[in-house]
Amino acid sequence: MMTITLLFKRLALLFAILQIAGNVYADDGYKLWLGYNAVADKKLAAKYKAQLAHLKFAGNTPSLNAAREELLTGLEGTLALRPQIGDKIEYPALLVGIASSLKLPGSVCSESELDKTGNEGYLIKTVIINQKKCIVITAKTDIGVLHGVFGFLKLLQTQQSIDALNILEYPRIMYRVLDHWDNLNRTVERGYAGASIWNWHKLPGYIDQRYIDYARASASVGINGSVVNNVNANALMLTPEYLEKVKALANTFRPYGIKVYLSVKFSSPIDIGGLKTADPLNAQVMQWWKDKADEIYRSIPDFGGFLVKANSEGQPGPQAYGRSHADGANMLADALLPHNGIVMWRAFVYDNNVPDDRAKQAYNEFKPLDGQFKKNVIIQVKNGPIDFQPREPFHPLFGAMPNTPLMMEFQLTQEYLGFSTNLVYEAPLFKESLESDTYAMGKGSTVSKVIQGAFNPKLITGMAGVANIGTDINWCGHPFAQANWYAFGRLAWNPDLSSGDIASDWLKMTFSNNPGFISPMKAMMLQSRETAVNYMTPLGLHHIMGVNTHYGPGPWVDNAGRADWNAVYYHKADSAGIGFNRSSTGSNAVAQYQPQVRDLFENLATCPDEYLLWFHHVGWDYKMRSGATLWDEMVHRYYLGADAVKQMELSWGKMAGYVDEERFGSVKQLLAIQYDEATTWRNSCVLYFQTFSKRPIPAQYPKPDKPLSFYRDRKFLLAPGIGGNQ
Ligand code: GCU
Repeated sequence: MMTITLLFKRLALLFAILQIAGNVYADDGYKLWLGYNAVADKKLAAKYKAQLAHLKFAGNTPSLNAAREELLTGLEGTLALRPQIGDKIEYPALLVGIASSLKLPGSVCSESELDKTGNEGYLIKTVIINQKKCIVITAKTDIGVLHGVFGFLKLLQTQQSIDALNILEYPRIMYRVLDHWDNLNRTVERGYAGASIWNWHKLPGYIDQRYIDYARASASVGINGSVVNNVNANALMLTPEYLEKVKALANTFRPYGIKVYLSVKFSSPIDIGGLKTADPLNAQVMQWWKDKADEIYRSIPDFGGFLVKANSEGQPGPQAYGRSHADGANMLADALLPHNGIVMWRAFVYDNNVPDDRAKQAYNEFKPLDGQFKKNVIIQVKNGPIDFQPREPFHPLFGAMPNTPLMMEFQLTQEYLGFSTNLVYEAPLFKESLESDTYAMGKGSTVSKVIQGAFNPKLITGMAGVANIGTDINWCGHPFAQANWYAFGRLAWNPDLSSGDIASDWLKMTFSNNPGFISPMKAMMLQSRETAVNYMTPLGLHHIMGVNTHYGPGPWVDNAGRADWNAVYYHKADSAGIGFNRSSTGSNAVAQYQPQVRDLFENLATCPDEYLLWFHHVGWDYKMRSGATLWDEMVHRYYLGADAVKQMELSWGKMAGYVDEERFGSVKQLLAIQYDEATTWRNSCVLYFQTFSKRPIPAQYPKPDKPLSFYRDRKFLLAPGIGGNQ
């Protein structure tokens, strides 16, 4: 007969097998990078366990409770460890809490060290207390402790040594915000991962577990704000009924250090306030916004503020009353200032008159307003001057408004990067913008420094990411798209991190620490953005996607509502050549940059290949740096891009042993779709541009198997992701 002990042992074994099987065979991706997979290196796991056997966790505020729960979940998952929890320090110990309540000796952490962590940062240190080795996670605030816990768990998830820790972390940027382009009817403008996660109908009564997990994941990478509705805003959002719902979200996010912000419609005083005007200098209008702000702060005392898209793409704004962007923004800033709220005013503007070059408009409208904004206004500027293209030069406003806070706006949702069927790791794109040198204060005045306020420490600082989150079980529609949410948070916290380090952290936390997996997958991620540029818009081409939906290629689009919505406006292909002349002989957009940058882009000899057709109209036979003609080089890039997706498929195919079946199968299918889309891009563009170049596709490349008309005639009217103001 089986003894009780044996029975227990068998059950434990069975349980362990099931657990492993669970890890290997099914993971729907819902847990993001917080799956807390078991540390596979058994020796290391044993070492961790020995060091973390006892836990002293001081305090029980909502944020500290969230931190404690996260820590216990993390230890259980990574190490199957339930530490002994007590107030008395038993050794070896993990001590967690704000420094004052842990009552740490001054030798353990000094005031000056703590000061450096600010209100959101933390310290993780190995220290000796009573001659015993301990690990301390501490901070000045509860939120700092929560961030510290996530930081510590990352060490275990990525299998770092915890023998001699001395980590001091703090965010370099103040406002690190996700912008949801979510409508009240739950459609998501440019959303490719299902519906909006905010269920307005069930709020405020029903708090979906997703809201909590969203806050956990966002906090784990340091995000501290969420704009919950679309920039093409619906004024209903500011009615008492909806504010009740927003309050419920704010209450849910608060323990995680995430503030709620709202996109507001500039005409709200008319739309829902019964006024006849929204003129920002009208006394009644000013009072209306003040009263509205007071009303919001009565129920949401830590409300973050407003995001505004005004006088752009049909949105109302101050210019309708002959007022400037500064007049509009300052009026809202006055209403928010008594409550410490901010206004994020967008520089993505283009008005009803088609300009000679849309790339110049934001600079033309905003540069003259430098220094005129109230101190709680920050201008939110897209990374490039057009619109989140696969590649753009940096926006000329960066460095051009030294007396105005400028906030970076990146797009995580892949509006122009193949939606959620294309694996495109965006960190290299973000880094390329951040590391661009504006020369505003001489060499080394990078965009990153500008947005960190390095040249004017009095300014507030911020970074926004247009969210790629929806109701899909894996949140982002593609398992690898989660990496863009993750990378955005990490870079907003510290823009100096490298794309490669962020990729390997994410891969380890999400999938596996095995070097056989990390090395090829990291390489694949790092190459993926350049690959997309190659099969979509090589050599500086831009905005040649399908009309409206922006799905797939549409280089032939020439009949959209206004000139600058057409692909032909941007590529200007003709029998002589291709490209938008933005040099001094063309639109002269180059003049918006500092002389060093202007000259670099102005001269064909120095203009980088990557931006060639962004700044120049170049002949088909122009000799490229590679020695090839422009036409041959362009064809080469298109084929290179599509072939690289084939390589991605092959690399992923070898990863079956490292990844659970569910995510393996999901990525495999998506890569097959991506290959199909990449070849469609390649064939469409090569065949279409060939109608101008009249040159052959070089013999080494296989000819497209379908005629241009096949690609041109395809319609994707119901592609996901459009619809605003709902
Ligand atoms: C793009 C996008 C729109 C969006 C706009 C914006 O034009 O296609 O859907 O509203 O950017 O950033 O405001």
